Amino acid sequence: MSLKDVSAWLGFAKACFSQWASRWALAAALIACLVGLIDSQPAWAQTVPEVPQSAPAAPNPQALFEAHCSSCHAHGGNLIRRGKNLQQKTLLRNGYGEVGAIATLITQGKGVMPAYADRLSASEIEAIAQYVLEQAKISWP
Ligand code: HEC
Repeated sequence: MSLKDVSAWLGFAKACFSQWASRWALAAALIACLVGLIDSQPAWAQTVPEVPQSAPAAPNPQALFEAHCSSCHAHGGNLIRRGKNLQQKTLLRNGYGEVGAIATLITQGKGVMPAYADRLSASEIEAIAQYVLEQAKISWP
């Protein structure tokens, strides 16, 4: 083999190696990219400050009323003691014209009506009391 042949072979080998190496480099880059996409947030997302957790959703008083009260007080009535219904006139006559008075009644219960202190939070109870007054004002449509 002449010197020329050797250098030709070397050139060929070099070319092969560089192609092989660049292919692997490409594949490695691709894999790194994919792993990066799956594994971590993009850099710009990490610099954004975390959004503070929003406050828990306000209780939906209508849903609460339906779940806890409507079995006895559907449409503002009272299945057990008809005279103790949730119509505005009756509420006012019986001293339940204020959110506070109704909230206390719901919290402590009275007679056959159960107490809700251990089932509803104070803010839920207040929301229901408010709802009762609002509905009474419009005659429980
Ligand atoms: C098991 C049936 C029952 C359930 C459930 C019930 N109540 Fe009552 N509720 C009654 C009874 C009975 C009375 C009358 C209590 C008494 O004065 O002896 C009453 C009275 C009331 C009154 C006073 C009415 C008046 O004119 O004097 C309000 C207001 C009231 N309930 C609201 C609620 C709300 C709000 C809920 C749900 C959180 C609820 N009740 C759940 C049975 C029930």
